Amino acid sequence: MPSYLSLVTALSFLLVFGNAQDPALQATPIATNTAISTTYSQSNVPTGTPLPGNYDDPLRPQVHFSPPRGFMNDPNGMFVDGNGTYHLYYQYNPTANVAGNQHWGHATSDDLYTWTNQPIAIFPGGPTEGVFSGSAVVDVNNTSGFFPNQTDGVVAIYTINVPENQTQHIAYSYDNGFSFIKYEKNPVISPGGTNPTQFRDPKVIYYAPTKSWIMVVAYPIDFQVGIFSSPNLIDWTPESNFTHHGLTGLQYECPNLAEMPVEGGSGQINESLYVLLISVNPGAPLGGSITEYFVGQFNGTYFETLDSTTRLTDFAKDHYAGQFFYGIPGSEDQITINWASNWQYTNVVPTAGDVLGDGFRSVMTVPRGHYLKDLPRFGMSLISYPRDIMSIVESELAMNHSLGNGTVFLDYSNVQSGALYFEANITGLTGPESLDGTLNFTFSSSVSGESISGGTFLSSGDVWLDRGHTDGFSNPYFTDKFSATGLYNEAVGAWKVSGIVDRSVIELFLNGGEKSATSVFFPTQPLNIMMLKVSGLNATATASVGVWALKAAWLDQADVNGTVVGNVTGGNGTTNAPTLGAVRLF
Ligand SMILES: *[C@@H]1O[C@H](CO)[C@@H](O)[C@H](O)[C@H]1NC(C)=O
Ligand SMILES: *[C@@H]1O[C@H](CO)[C@@H](O)[C@H](O)[C@H]1NC(C)=O
Ligand SMILES: *[C@@H]1O[C@H](CO)[C@@H](O)[C@H](O)[C@H]1NC(C)=O
Ligand SMILES: *[C@@H]1O[C@H](CO)[C@@H](O)[C@H](O)[C@H]1NC(C)=O
Ligand SMILES: *[C@@H]1O[C@H](CO)[C@@H](O)[C@H](O)[C@H]1NC(C)=O
Ligand SMILES: *[C@@H]1O[C@H](CO)[C@@H](O)[C@H](O)[C@H]1NC(C)=O
Ligand SMILES: *[C@@H]1O[C@H](CO)[C@@H](O)[C@H](O)[C@H]1NC(C)=O
Ligand SMILES: *[C@@H]1O[C@H](CO)[C@@H](O)[C@H](O)[C@H]1NC(C)=O
Ligand SMILES: *[C@@H]1O[C@H](CO)[C@@H](O)[C@H](O)[C@H]1NC(C)=O
Ligand SMILES: *[C@@H]1O[C@H](CO)[C@@H](O)[C@H](O)[C@H]1NC(C)=O
Ligand SMILES: *[C@@H]1O[C@H](CO)[C@@H](O)[C@H](O)[C@H]1NC(C)=O
Ligand SMILES: *[C@@H]1O[C@H](CO)[C@@H](O)[C@H](O)[C@H]1NC(C)=O
Repeated sequence: MPSYLSLVTALSFLLVFGNAQDPALQATPIATNTAISTTYSQSNVPTGTPLPGNYDDPLRPQVHFSPPRGFMNDPNGMFVDGNGTYHLYYQYNPTANVAGNQHWGHATSDDLYTWTNQPIAIFPGGPTEGVFSGSAVVDVNNTSGFFPNQTDGVVAIYTINVPENQTQHIAYSYDNGFSFIKYEKNPVISPGGTNPTQFRDPKVIYYAPTKSWIMVVAYPIDFQVGIFSSPNLIDWTPESNFTHHGLTGLQYECPNLAEMPVEGGSGQINESLYVLLISVNPGAPLGGSITEYFVGQFNGTYFETLDSTTRLTDFAKDHYAGQFFYGIPGSEDQITINWASNWQYTNVVPTAGDVLGDGFRSVMTVPRGHYLKDLPRFGMSLISYPRDIMSIVESELAMNHSLGNGTVFLDYSNVQSGALYFEANITGLTGPESLDGTLNFTFSSSVSGESISGGTFLSSGDVWLDRGHTDGFSNPYFTDKFSATGLYNEAVGAWKVSGIVDRSVIELFLNGGEKSATSVFFPTQPLNIMMLKVSGLNATATASVGVWALKAAWLDQADVNGTVVGNVTGGNGTTNAPTLGAVRLF
């Protein structure tokens, strides 16, 4: 057991020595409480206060989460606390605009659209350590023993990456997930097998029938998802592996298991089933990263798929590493947030320059609600819709319930957020012979003429999206066009397209989320003109179209210079609560 001083001395040596070649990583350890703890922090990473960020950039989305500065990738640790506050942690490099130096950034929200930036929640323990992806749970029954005096203790379960290996660690929080204390006997799971550097992204749920915590964790290059069980979040037993299913690409990452309701043909809830998400990168069919999922039954030790079909969560290129919020009962729609980017180009997109503080990289999707639906021909499918989007609407810009073969044209230059939500329902369809016509939309810049566009053909069921006519970014992997095919369901009698456009990201939904797409795009001028055109409909059909301006959820909390400082009440920016990012010594 090292003494406090010898540990700090050893760390200082490592820090100076380890980073001598890289000025960006010059670091000093900050001792915050000389009695019990120390915080390793890069010299330019504040503890106890969030980093400030400029949220007034033309490419900065207003209803999507993005980090104040630096680089963000996977969502982590997502849980809803006892007050209904949602916690989002994320893979965060606070010291550069490219991936690396992983911390757990943190933000909270009551509506999942309006986020408050919080201080970084988990820091690495030394210069060669990365705090990689993981999850969080609320240990209401104190199974871990960390929380003798409370029912709202939070435990984070995550991967520590060092050059030699990846191991699973835990940390606990007495204050609803704002600060964490690392468990003194970490790691709780060490790698088995022959690839100790490839074992990561633990996601934990509670399985009530066996009173067990269940972890799914990736053995990325073995194409296995390990399923472990634990009575107390500390002692873990391997139960089974989900092996070599679906698309493998070159790695499995970020497995996620959740129970959710199945909607019957008449819209009622019949039962619930489990969904296992697996993120694949690199080597996805469209290049880079995607997420696939499997629907099945879980009995506490073993996940069995309903069928042998591989399905994808999204049909464009920017939807990865999604995680289900912990704390939502399996009888209710589940909620994910996904990373809206792709490893093929994420480090070079034009939302940031070279210098830290000049912009940011990566955004998250809006919260997606999910349930399962047995779709004709497609089978049991994960439905994915923007959750409670009306809660972030500022005003209605257009509403026409009988557009027919018509056009909606809107100049939305005066919408402060630059963010819109639209819905277009083709109704009055009487059968397969009535599926005529097209519905197209374009969002363009009146200054440069740049645009993004999309649409659907009723006869084929195809839906498409084109981000090619934007000039702010060019890259061989930044593919222009995406499409998917839906299937008309006679019982519904409608064909529906909806979407959210938010400065540099669009999310598109067909038939209430039977198909969905997420795509980032980078115009040189803000988009400010919307056109939606319906034509060639069958005489019995018409279109119902609504367009809404969304709130500027970030600018609403910015100062005159567009700067958002976040929750600065917790500390003074250099030292703070002794538990922040602390390694506790006993
Ligand atoms: C809920 O809010 C109350 C009052 O702000 C606070 O004391 C309590 O710790 C919060 N609980 C959780 C679980 O966030
Ligand atoms: C729980 O409360 C007891 C009695 O007040 C106190 O001695 C102990 O330190 C508390 N434990 C924790 C983990 O806060
Ligand atoms: C992982 O690597 C670290 C650093 O070399 C080492 O201290 C630790 O024992 C290793 N853990 C396992 C489980 O191999
Ligand atoms: C799962 O796969 C890993 C990696 O191949 C292996 O080390 C482990 O023993 C397997 N676990 C089970 C329960 O089969
Ligand atoms: C907590 O204990 C109650 C009562 O035994 C049980 O119903 C519930 O599933 C447990 N939940 C967790 C997360 O431990
Ligand atoms: C779960 O299913 C597997 C495979 O059928 C079986 O081996 C195992 O015993 C089952 N576990 C429980 C708890 O029922
Ligand atoms: C419109 O749909 C009906 C069936 O609902 C079909 O008989 C008719 O041919 C369609 N009209 C055209 C112009 O396609
Ligand atoms: C909608 O876009 C498609 C694809 O570009 C095109 O074929 C179709 O004619 C367009 N429809 C209208 C009404 O402009
Ligand atoms: C829409 O256009 C089609 C083809 O031009 C036509 O048959 C249909 O009657 C029109 N619908 C309405 C409501 O005008
Ligand atoms: C489109 O249809 C959905 C039901 O599927 C409905 O909730 C929504 O209000 C409709 N939107 C418009 C603009 O008519
Ligand atoms: C805004 O920026 C100006 C110019 O840099 C500066 O003088 C002013 O203090 C800033 N205002 C705030 C609220 O930070
Ligand atoms: C700010 O952080 C403190 C913990 O340091 C927390 O108790 C408080 O609820 C947070 N306030 C907001 C608005 O997020």
